[in-house]
Amino acid sequence: MTRVMIAGGFGKLGLAIQAGLENSTFEIAGILSGRPHDSAYPVWTELTAIDQTADIFLDVSTPATVYENALWAIAHDMAVVIGATGLTDTQITDLEARATRGVLIVPNFSLSAVLLMQLSELAVRYFPDVEVVEAHDARKIDAPSGTAVLTAKRIAAARQQAPTPTSDDAARGERIADVPVHALRLPGYIAQQTVYFGGLDEQLTLTQSTTSRAAFVPGVLRALQGVTTLDGLKIGLEHVL
Ligand SMILES: NC(=O)c1ccc[n+]([C@@H]2O[C@H](COP(=O)([O-])OP(=O)(O)OC[C@H]3O[C@@H](n4cnc5c(N)ncnc54)[C@H](OP(=O)(O)O)[C@@H]3O)[C@@H](O)[C@H]2O)c1
Repeated sequence: MTRVMIAGGFGKLGLAIQAGLENSTFEIAGILSGRPHDSAYPVWTELTAIDQTADIFLDVSTPATVYENALWAIAHDMAVVIGATGLTDTQITDLEARATRGVLIVPNFSLSAVLLMQLSELAVRYFPDVEVVEAHDARKIDAPSGTAVLTAKRIAAARQQAPTPTSDDAARGERIADVPVHALRLPGYIAQQTVYFGGLDEQLTLTQSTTSRAAFVPGVLRALQGVTTLDGLKIGLEHVL
């Protein structure tokens, strides 16, 4: 069995992953966490306390801890999957230089979100007029979401014709790479994103949504299956699909 060490394994995403790895081909070698937790697995609260090895280090901890954890895992000869946010461009460049095995940074484990971006890259070749609307729970602090920003940048990079000029009134959304992005923050919503394309007398609308953190588990499993085949650092689940 492939052994996986999880950083942040008792967080909201980490608990969904713990459940998802049961009855899989992966064995949890232990969990690095901020505080002690009762668990069937070894639990450490300091990197220096870790007394097990693993094939893969999976990080779903916090922006404050993700870089130090990745340095430690690379130095201990593990493949690394990073789902936690917060790495700076400088830190990513540094990890890329140090990577001796596969290091996969996954900004979004949701298969539907990854496919939405890929399908949007295809659609924008034919429909250059496009806007992104994302909706999340009111407690989400950042806006627009990282996925919406990435979607807009990827759409812009794939767009082959200039869009029809429009006004830049505030109500027209934030321009990200010349793609208007609108962020809704409302109770009752979890996480969804729609990309609207408009053409001559026709429209195309692509929508994805996730309704619980369990939605990330299939993507996590694919990342764990694929990371050991990678050479060096890659960004995006699409590298293992
Ligand atoms: N890539 C994706 O698809 C995706 C999806 C959802 C979330 N995320 C990201 O994943 C991360 C976790 O999200 P979440 O919603 O699960 O957050 P969360 O519920 O706040 O969980 C964070 C966990 O990190 C742990 N932690 C704190 N200090 C630590 C340390 N020094 N070493 C290891 N673990 C430590 C905490 O442990 P204690 O419980 O012991 O305090 C907590 O369980 C965030 O960066 C989030 O943005 C990514």
